[in-house]
Amino acid sequence: MNRTHKCGHINESLVNNEVTISGWLDSRRNLGGLIFTYIRDISGNVQVVFDEDVIGTEGFELAGKLRNEFVVQIKGDVVMREEKDFNLDVATGKVEIHAKELIILSEAETPPFHIEEGTKVNEELRLKYRYMDLRRPDVQRNFILRHKVYQSVRNFFSNNEFLEVETPMLTKSTPEGARDYLVPSRVHDEKFYALPQSPQIFKQLLMVSGFDRYFQITKCFRDEDLRADRQPEFTQIDTEMSFVDVDDVLEIHERHIKQLFKDTVGVDVQLPIQRMTFKEAMERYGSDKPDIRFGMELQNISELVKDSEFGVFSGAIANGGSVRGINAKGCGNYGRKQIDKLVDFVKDYRAKGLAWIAITEEGEVKSQISKFFSEEELKAIIERMDGQNGDLLLFCADKDSVVFDSLGALRLHIAKQLEILDPKEFKFLWVTEFPLFEYDEDNDRYAAMHHPFTMVMDEDLELLEKDPLKARAKAYDVTLNGYEIGGGSIRIHKRDIQEKMFAALGFSKEEAEAQFGFLMNAFKYGTPPHGGLAYGLDRIVMLMLGENNIRNVIAFPKTKEASCLMTDAPSVVDTKQLDELGITIKKED
Ligand code: AMO
Ligand code: AMP
Repeated sequence: MNRTHKCGHINESLVNNEVTISGWLDSRRNLGGLIFTYIRDISGNVQVVFDEDVIGTEGFELAGKLRNEFVVQIKGDVVMREEKDFNLDVATGKVEIHAKELIILSEAETPPFHIEEGTKVNEELRLKYRYMDLRRPDVQRNFILRHKVYQSVRNFFSNNEFLEVETPMLTKSTPEGARDYLVPSRVHDEKFYALPQSPQIFKQLLMVSGFDRYFQITKCFRDEDLRADRQPEFTQIDTEMSFVDVDDVLEIHERHIKQLFKDTVGVDVQLPIQRMTFKEAMERYGSDKPDIRFGMELQNISELVKDSEFGVFSGAIANGGSVRGINAKGCGNYGRKQIDKLVDFVKDYRAKGLAWIAITEEGEVKSQISKFFSEEELKAIIERMDGQNGDLLLFCADKDSVVFDSLGALRLHIAKQLEILDPKEFKFLWVTEFPLFEYDEDNDRYAAMHHPFTMVMDEDLELLEKDPLKARAKAYDVTLNGYEIGGGSIRIHKRDIQEKMFAALGFSKEEAEAQFGFLMNAFKYGTPPHGGLAYGLDRIVMLMLGENNIRNVIAFPKTKEASCLMTDAPSVVDTKQLDELGITIKKED
């Protein structure tokens, strides 16, 4: 062994003991006849002092050659520092090692950036040298937490009789609604595997096989537009259970969430976790993943303004839309420029504009739309919005989907601006009773909101054929602070309902057979009622850490353009490789 102790474990109890440590040179200062260094490993760092009188001339000369990031092995005695020299910023700061022997295990070129906590170095450079970036203690702590998450998850599900089973990576398209990553087959001409968007079909087949309860921590692949909380390959904690309905699934997952947050970040999650239907979430927060750490809820003022002279409002309602608003408490003093920025903000969410009423601290009402309303109408609107002195009321008129998207996003935007969100507060929420279908305008058809195997709510069974858009699903998401951290559903286990579902989705029998025939076939041979849920593990770790980017919790993440700056993937391949696969690249002119 190159060491007797890790650097971060050197403390007062070891004073007067001889120890050997190994690690990277974190920093170095020459002070007269002494060289002060810090040596770092994953456990922390410790000060090592080189004194020619202790280590001898040869050792001291060698120490003179040390540069940052050299890997060294040092034998020495642990010595208590004088109190005035304590460095209480580091755990080992009351002691130091007086070096007696130095071995340089490997040298290092000048690093592309200094290795330090909370670095300001740009992300591109850090991702190019990710292995160096991963040396930073704060980054390493993220992965230590991630490791604890794996352990807790495995313990919980094992203790609750879930069996961990692996499912294939080279497979057939899975129905999660994103684009597939395809892998060409060398052996089968013109054929491709798809990387799984989730283990969905396989876990359902495991239920058909009688495995009863399954879980897996596994990679999923989705070729979709990337955002701060999305990666093309990400990790799911995937689960499935037999002989259950919605409440059974939610109950066990509540216990899982409680255990997980206790084990890893020491947070006590109060059970039961609040539940809210999709409809209520949209009406109150304009979002199916509402951040419920703060209020600023949406109010519907359609009734009050449907006959008003303001054509933007009355027109939107006449067209089947609505007028809703939020009360940005304490923003009544916003100037025109600040308000214009909010108007621009909602335009990204397809809103055509944003109407506002500002109430100054003195109670003066300012608005560009007040001229359209009588005094009574204005008073009624302000009352409905609970407008007080110092408030800013913001309204959006449009079809519901635009109003919800715009105000839902605006609400979060303002909360961030006001800095009222505490990342250490963890507010979970179950969102239930999702619509079974959504309307896919691009392709003029219904699409499954979750996936095509999701069971309709018992009381809405008839709507499946009569009025699909009104049918609610036995589907649920679990959200945390405005992020969807997990989602799942009870599955259809009866063939006739599955056929109706495919019909509503506009799949012909042949199409359904070609894509999911093997699953439908399996269902012929005795299928238990089953359902499950999958969490986005990366998102959970990100939120536990109060990080705002998923890349910070993935060891080797991809950029927004889905490339890896370190390996240069994706990259051009040899013509020979392409030939073997029977692939010709069509150059775009
Ligand atoms: P769903 O598609 O909701 O459900 O995915 C489950 C969870 O995975 C996370 N997630 C992602 N995380 C990072 N990057 C991405 N690109 C990404 N996409 C999804 C989210 C999400 O809640 N098979 C179903 C589960 C089921 O029905 O049991 C499924 O995959 O946190
Ligand atoms: P206009 O009559 O189009 O000049 O709009 C008058 C005010 O109403 C402007 O401040 C617009 O930002 C706002 N406005 C326009 N369209 C909408 C809308 N769909 N919802 C809310 N406010 C709007």
